[in-house]
Amino acid sequence: MVIMATASPAPHSPPKHTNGEHNCHPSVLSTGGNDDGGGIPVVDFDVLVNGTADERSQAVRDLGRACEDWGFFMVSNHGVPEDLKEAMLEACKELFSLPDEEKAEHLETEPMAPIRIGSGFYSVVDGARYWRNYLKMFAHPELHCPEKPAKLRDVAAEYSAKTRDLLLQLAKAISGSLGLDGGRISEALNFDACFQILVGNHYPAYTGPGDLGVGLPAHSDHGLLTLLFQDGSVDGLQVEHDGEWHLAKPLPGAFFVIAGDQLEIVSNGRYKAAVHRAVVGGEQERMSFVSMISPSMDTVVEPVPELALEGRGMEFRGVRYRDYMAYQQSNKLEAKEALNIARVRHTTDRVEQVD
Ligand code: OGA
Ligand code: NI
Repeated sequence: MVIMATASPAPHSPPKHTNGEHNCHPSVLSTGGNDDGGGIPVVDFDVLVNGTADERSQAVRDLGRACEDWGFFMVSNHGVPEDLKEAMLEACKELFSLPDEEKAEHLETEPMAPIRIGSGFYSVVDGARYWRNYLKMFAHPELHCPEKPAKLRDVAAEYSAKTRDLLLQLAKAISGSLGLDGGRISEALNFDACFQILVGNHYPAYTGPGDLGVGLPAHSDHGLLTLLFQDGSVDGLQVEHDGEWHLAKPLPGAFFVIAGDQLEIVSNGRYKAAVHRAVVGGEQERMSFVSMISPSMDTVVEPVPELALEGRGMEFRGVRYRDYMAYQQSNKLEAKEALNIARVRHTTDRVEQVD
């Protein structure tokens, strides 16, 4: 598969405000791929849960196709209030603007620490410099939250509950789209005890070499499903589809949903985790916010037996989620490299595990 690399310098013009149309315009984020966001599937959540029986079946089929073709889609009419999303970003912005002394306790903590703040363009994992600050918080079953800013805890608690609910309902519909019972994936992953992380990303205005920089390198997410939204009009998220990078331009109010590694494992590879990255360029800073659900740390994630492939069986072996996450978070982000620890290598005469 050919993956198009970040293009040589593109004309420098600030990203325009998106008005929901998939307008194509020259942008510092031009990559030689498709910049108009066109083609990214949209799932209407209201129809998915409240539609007539026919509408719901159609929506589940569309959802299945979105997972199969892209592993990446938008969800509209999701019911998470806009002012809650804004409050979440505001609280994050305040945190990022605090002096380092106020955040010292959580700065550059170890990969499995329940609260982690990345101080800037420094990563202990691979020595690479990414144009990004981040806040990662374990949010469920227990919310771990910095004490400052004071408003962060309440906002994060509400945001985590609302988005968890949405993600769990999406997981049900995705289960149905695989031809399984709606509750099957949740049951297989013991989702009564699910695990959730919230991540705030801040990409400062770019002043590095060239016109484009890396905010986050190409990767897939380690959980089951990721819900992401960005602040206003500054784009930067790109998703790989059919070997090309597509700029992900959101419809107003919609979330992006990204299939993660655990979905690829549990679906026995029917649905692929989406490779995505964040590109930075231009004078405007950018913010995004992520809510991710995963199985509990103690769950051993393996493909559901009903999805075994004829004559081939399982594409993945069971891996405890804690071990998976620790591996993914402690190693260089390299597209879907982490999934190899769970992949079964098939040969003509025997089956081996990949070490
Ligand atoms: C992430 C991620 C992309 C973005 O946090 O895992 O992919 O646009 N973020 O911030
Ligand atoms: Ni991601």
